[in-house]
Amino acid sequence: MGTVDTIVHLVYLACATCFVIGLHLMNTPATARRGNQVSAAGMAAAVLATAVLLVRDQAVTVGALVALTAGTAVGTAAGLITARRVRMIAMPQLVSLFNAVGGGAAALIAVAEAIEHADRLAALPLQTTLTVVLDVAIGGVTFTGSLIASGKLAGTVPGRPIAVPARRVIMTVLTAGSAVLAVLFLTGRGGVAALAGITAAALVGGVLATLPIGGADMPVVISLLNACTGTAVAMAGFVLGSTPLIIAGALVGAAGAILTKLMADAMNRPVRAILAGGYGTGDEHPTGPAGGAGPVREIAVDDAALQLAYAGKVVIVPGYGLAAAQAQHEVVALARALTDRGVEVSYGIHPVAGRMPGHMNVLLAEADAPYPELKDLEEINPQFGRTDVVLVVGANDVTNPAARRPGNAVSGMPILDVDKARSVIVIKRSLGHGYAGIDNELYTDPKTAMLFADAKAGLTALIAGVHAYAA
Ligand code: TAP
Repeated sequence: MGTVDTIVHLVYLACATCFVIGLHLMNTPATARRGNQVSAAGMAAAVLATAVLLVRDQAVTVGALVALTAGTAVGTAAGLITARRVRMIAMPQLVSLFNAVGGGAAALIAVAEAIEHADRLAALPLQTTLTVVLDVAIGGVTFTGSLIASGKLAGTVPGRPIAVPARRVIMTVLTAGSAVLAVLFLTGRGGVAALAGITAAALVGGVLATLPIGGADMPVVISLLNACTGTAVAMAGFVLGSTPLIIAGALVGAAGAILTKLMADAMNRPVRAILAGGYGTGDEHPTGPAGGAGPVREIAVDDAALQLAYAGKVVIVPGYGLAAAQAQHEVVALARALTDRGVEVSYGIHPVAGRMPGHMNVLLAEADAPYPELKDLEEINPQFGRTDVVLVVGANDVTNPAARRPGNAVSGMPILDVDKARSVIVIKRSLGHGYAGIDNELYTDPKTAMLFADAKAGLTALIAGVHAYAA
C-alpha cells in the first residue's frame, strides 16, 4: 500500500469516527446541530479522499471529473437551499424526498456497475452480484415508496389509505418473479435484462406498499424507508468496494431501524400492522365536529389567564397546532411569565406530537425553552394527578382518552394523561379533528375548557392577561 493509499484509509477511518460521534451528538437538541456538522464534515472528507484516489489511479476521464464536480455542486446547492427554505412542518416530506434520492442513487450505482460489466457478469463473484441484486431491489422500493410517502404528507397524493385491488396477489407475483430473475442473474444466465426486471418490480412494489398506508402512520413508514435507504447505500458500498459508503449506510440503516421500532412502540402499533395499511386519514379536512358526544365549555382569555396565573403547577402540552401557528416563542414567553410569578411550569412532550420525530423538542429548543422543563411521556404522566392546570396548545390525538379503548383509530396509542389534572385548557381554532381524524373525548370532559383561537394569537392574549395580574 502506497503513502497516498495509507493517508486515504486513515481519512476514511477519521470519517467513520465523525459519523459515530455525529450520531452520538444528535442524542440531545443541545448538541444535535454540531452532530450534523461533524457528520457532514466526515462525509465531505470521504468524498474528497475518494476523488484523490480516482485521480491518482487515473480511473476517471477529465470529462467524468467535470461531470462529477458539476453534479456535486448542483446537488450541494439544491440540498442547502431546500433544507434552509423548508418550513419546519414540511420537514418530514423533505426527509422522505431525500430518502428517495438516496435509495434511487444507490440503485443506479448497481445498475451502472451491471451495465459496465455486462459482458462478464457470469465471471463476477457472488458477493458482488448478490449485492447488486439487493441494491436495486431495496433502492428501487425505497425510491418510489419514499416519493409516495412524501406526496402523501405534502398533499399531492391523498393522505387517506388507498386500496389497490388485488394488491396482495400483485405483490406476491412481483416478489416471486423477482426471486426467479434474481436466481437467473446470480447464475449468470439472466444478464442485465433480469436486473432490469428486478428493478421494475421493485419500483412498482414501492408504490403498492406505500399507497394503502394512511397519513397517520407515515412517520413510521418514512423512518422505515430511511432504514432501507441506509441498507441500499451500504449495498452500493459493497458493489463499489467503498468503506465509507458501507459504514455510513450501515449506520443510517441501523439508526433508521431503531427509530422505526421506537416510533411504532410510541403509537403502540406493530410495524407489521402499520405496513398492512388502512389506518389514519392524514391532514384532510375533518368530516364533522370533533368534540364527541356532549356539550363543550368555552373559556374567555381573561378567565384562562387568571387560572394560569394563580396555579401552583402548570403543564403545557404542545402539538401540531403549535408548529402550524409557529407559536413556539409565544408559548415559551408565557411559560416564563408564569415561572416569574412562581408557578412551576413544565412541558409534556409526546413522542409523536407534531409531524416528525422530535418535532416539539426542535421547536421549543428554537425558542430557548429550558431543557430540564421538557418532560417525556413516561416522566410527565405520573405528574398530571398533582397538576392544577394543563394548557394544551394545538395538540389533539396525543391527548385523546379514546386511545384507552379498543376499536378506534388511536386505540392503544400511549397518550398524555391530561384528563387526570385538576383542570384543562385547550387552545385550538375549532373542534376540528387531529391527524387520526376522530373525535377527541377530552373536549367534552367537564374539567376541560376550550379557548378557541389560533395558537399564536391565543398565547399572545394569555401572556398579556398573565402580565395584567402581575401588575
Ligand atoms: P393532531 O392530533 O394532528 O392535532 C392538531 C390540532 O392542531 C388540530 O386538531 C387543529 O385543530 C390544531 N391546529 C391546527 N392549526 C392550528 C393553529 N394555527 N392554532 C391552533 N391550533 C391549530 O396533533 P398532535 O396532537 O400533535 O398529534 C400528532 C398526530 O400526528 C398523531 O396522530 C400522530 O400519529 C400523527 N403524526 C405524527 C408524526 C410525528 S413523527 N410526530 C408524523 C405524522 C403524523 P383546529 O383545526 O381546530 O385548530
